[in-house]
Amino acid sequence: MKIINICGARPNFMKIAPLMRAYKKHGNIEPMLIHTGQHYDANMSDLFFKQLGIPEPDINLEIGSASHAVQTAEIMKRFETVAIEEKPDWVVVVGDVNSTIACALVATKLGIKVAHVEAGLRSFDRNMPEEINRVLTDSISDLLFVTEPSGMENLKNEGVADDKVHFVGNVMIDTLRANFDKAQESKIVESLNLEAKGYNVVTLHRPSNVDDVTTMSRIVDVIDEIQKDLPTVFPMHPRTKHNLGKLGLADRLEAMENLKIIEPVGYLDFLKLTGSAAVVLTDSGGIQEEATILGVWCLTLRENTERPVTIDQGTNTLVGTDPTKILDAYRNCRSQAVGDAQTPEKWDGKAAERIADILAKQPA
Ligand code: UD1
Ligand code: UDP
Repeated sequence: MKIINICGARPNFMKIAPLMRAYKKHGNIEPMLIHTGQHYDANMSDLFFKQLGIPEPDINLEIGSASHAVQTAEIMKRFETVAIEEKPDWVVVVGDVNSTIACALVATKLGIKVAHVEAGLRSFDRNMPEEINRVLTDSISDLLFVTEPSGMENLKNEGVADDKVHFVGNVMIDTLRANFDKAQESKIVESLNLEAKGYNVVTLHRPSNVDDVTTMSRIVDVIDEIQKDLPTVFPMHPRTKHNLGKLGLADRLEAMENLKIIEPVGYLDFLKLTGSAAVVLTDSGGIQEEATILGVWCLTLRENTERPVTIDQGTNTLVGTDPTKILDAYRNCRSQAVGDAQTPEKWDGKAAERIADILAKQPA
């Protein structure tokens, strides 16, 4: 059974790594890895292949950055040629980025079966490009692998046949568990002159935050307040870096004495950095999940989340972008220990194994 696996953007690499490992146990699976090239900077791509032991992609489509339509269309054009030539039995897509929907759509129109890893998540906010990608990918997938109970419920409500849907757990947490010990050797905390539990981490890249001057200036106000309380590290996503200058907000951030703006860091450094933080403030999807497992407070600067289990059982709180609300929640976190967050069901490091077992049993 030939399976083409697709990755393209940073969070995809953490999701694909355990799958590529899990296939090795199945003699009947012949995996191929395709990188669309949606993310291409060394610290947004290559570093993750090295640190996570992901095999070199068989093919890199070298798409790069563009508008949504152009990026998605270019991926489709280039992937269609590969899919026709390679004739896979399955295409496995992960997450919710443009590479996910582009390759799923190509495969299904060629009559190739599609499996979606991280299916069923819904923010119910169609202004998010990722929500469109999730809904469309799920609607054309033949197998849907789900990370949390809300995903099962959402797919049921959308009428997806039960036999296509499998609750397998979370491949991103497979990667966290496989790399946790190694990450403890990272010296990033000392090298930034920080002390464990004595600093905050900020990550931002959602268009609704970083493309909008009003919202972004409110968030800059918040960062100014929290860096007066504790040193704050901000590994800045390239989208955010490009936008801050354009929005005229870069100088204000750079002038903050206790704010350390750094380049995006590799996975091991980031795991160490978040695991030792007092509070993580983010609009990332995956970081909400990782903070829950690391037992670190997470404030999500969004009005909604497609990962509600991180709120119901984990350390996450939705705080939107109103500075008063964010700072109230921040002070709340600072005044109490996290306590015993629950581990969501099946976030046990074995999700990729479950997925590979199910794929191996499919008729070729
Ligand atoms: C993409 C995903 C988003 C995901 C995020 C993870 C879509 C629609 N968005 O958002 O769901 O949460 O990745 O990080 O698929 N850039 C670089 N170097 C790179 C990559 C990007 O400089 O290696 C810059 C370019 O200016 C580019 C911008 O970042 O235009 C945005 O990149 P893009 O992949 O289009 O979207 P992200 O915001 O990264
Ligand atoms: N991450 C990283 N270095 C960083 C910031 C994030 O390794 O500087 C990792 C993080 O641990 C998580 C993933 O990148 O595994 C999240 O990716 P991102 O926030 O870009 O995307 P999202 O999850 O929002 O789609």
